Amino acid sequence: MKILVKGGQLVDPSQEINEIRTLYIEDGQIKSYPRGTKELEKDPSIKVIDASGKIVSPGFIDLHVHLREPGFEHKETIRTGCMAAAAGGFTSVVCMPNTNPVNDNASVTEYILLKARTEGVVNVFPVGAITKGQKGEELSEIGEMWEAGCIAISDDGRPVMNSRVMRHAMEYAKAFGLPVISHAEDLYLSSGGVMNEGFTSTMLGLRGIPNASEEVMVARDITLAELTKTHLHIAHVSTAGAVRLMREAKKRGVKVTAEATPHHFTLTDKAVLSYDTNAKVNPPIRSKEDMEAIKEGLNEGIIDIIATDHAPHTEDEKKVEFDLAPFGISGLETALPLALKLVEDGILTLTELIRKLTFNPAQIIKSDRGTLKLGAPADVVIFDPNKTIKVDREKFRSKGKNTPFHGWQLSGQILYTVVGGHIVFPT
Ligand code: DOR
Repeated sequence: MKILVKGGQLVDPSQEINEIRTLYIEDGQIKSYPRGTKELEKDPSIKVIDASGKIVSPGFIDLHVHLREPGFEHKETIRTGCMAAAAGGFTSVVCMPNTNPVNDNASVTEYILLKARTEGVVNVFPVGAITKGQKGEELSEIGEMWEAGCIAISDDGRPVMNSRVMRHAMEYAKAFGLPVISHAEDLYLSSGGVMNEGFTSTMLGLRGIPNASEEVMVARDITLAELTKTHLHIAHVSTAGAVRLMREAKKRGVKVTAEATPHHFTLTDKAVLSYDTNAKVNPPIRSKEDMEAIKEGLNEGIIDIIATDHAPHTEDEKKVEFDLAPFGISGLETALPLALKLVEDGILTLTELIRKLTFNPAQIIKSDRGTLKLGAPADVVIFDPNKTIKVDREKFRSKGKNTPFHGWQLSGQILYTVVGGHIVFPT
C-alpha cells in the first residue's frame, strides 16, 4: 500500500519535528517528506489522506496491555485486543504474561507471536513471566523467552514477594538486556483490599489497600536495580510516595523508568462511591494528592511514559458485589482523549505527551519504532485533538466494556491508524 498523508501537523519527538509536513509511505516504510505532491496525487495506486488541521505522529506504543490469550478468550483475544489498540491509535502493544498457561516459556511466547502474526492487526511484543507459573518461587527460562521474542520480564498481577528471587531475576534479565517491569505491591499489606485505603474506603465499608503496599515494593525494587545495575521499569505508578522514590532514584542515576495510566491521572477514589466495579483496578485509584503527584511526575519527566494497563473483563464478571469483582479497566480506546486533558490542563505540551506515547516506550523496549524517521517502519497515527467525542463502551472493539468513562465527553478522535504501511483503523 502507498499512502500520501498530506499537510498534517507532523509531531515526531524523536526528531524534534513539530511542523506542517507531508508524509509519503511506501513498502511499509516512511519513504519521504515530499514537498510537491502533484505527481504523486495523479498516481491512482496511492491513497491520499488529507490531514490538514490534524496531528500526524508515530503510532502509539502501549507498554502495558492484557490480551488474555491464551486461556481467557472470553475476556479478550489477540485479535480483539489488537483491534481495540488500532482504534485507540496504538500500533504496538506489549502484552503481560498472566495468561493461562502463563507466558513463562518459549512455547507460549511463540504461540502468542504466531497468533499475533496471523490474527493481530498491530505489532505485539510479549513479556515473559519472572517466575514459573507466576508463583514467585523458581525463575522462568528467561534466556529461552528472550530468544523466542520476549522484550521484558514482569510479574504483573502477581508480584514476586521473595526479594532474593527478584534479585536473581534482575541479574538474569541484565544478561539479556531485558528490562524488568515491576508491579509494585506488597501482597501482605494489600491482602483483602479492594480499593484505596482512606476516608472513602472507611465510608463505604470496603477494605483498603494502603499506599505503603506500593511504596515498600518500589523502594525494594529500586534498591535491587541499584545493586544489580539492571533496568527497572515501574508499572502503573499510583501514589505520591512512589513518585517521590522515583525522583530520588533518578537523581542518583539509578536505571529506572516508570509509567502512569490514564485512570490514575484522571480519577480519584471517589470514582467508586457508587460501588462502580468498573473503577475497581489494581493498584487502586487513589486520593487527589496522589493524582496530583502523578501529574507532577509526568510534568517533571519522573514518569517517562503513559501506558493503559488495558485489563478487559466480561460484564458478568464485573456485575457482582464490589468485593468479588475482578480488578481492571478496559483502557485502549479511551487513552488518547484522557491523555489530551494533560495538554489542555498545561501539564504537558503536545510534543511531550506524544513522546510519552511513542519514543519513550520504544526506547524502554529497545524498538526501532516510535519514530517517523525515513526508513522506519510506517507505524503512524492521525488524530484530531479538538474533535469532541462521547465515550460509548458499546462501540469498543475490545471485548472488555469495563470502563468508568462511559458517557464522558472528551476531546480527541483517532482518524487513521497505520501499521507497517497498512491502514488498520478504520476498517
Ligand atoms: O487491575 C488490574 N488488572 N491490575 C493488574 O495488575 C492485573 C490486571 C488484570 O490482569 O486483570
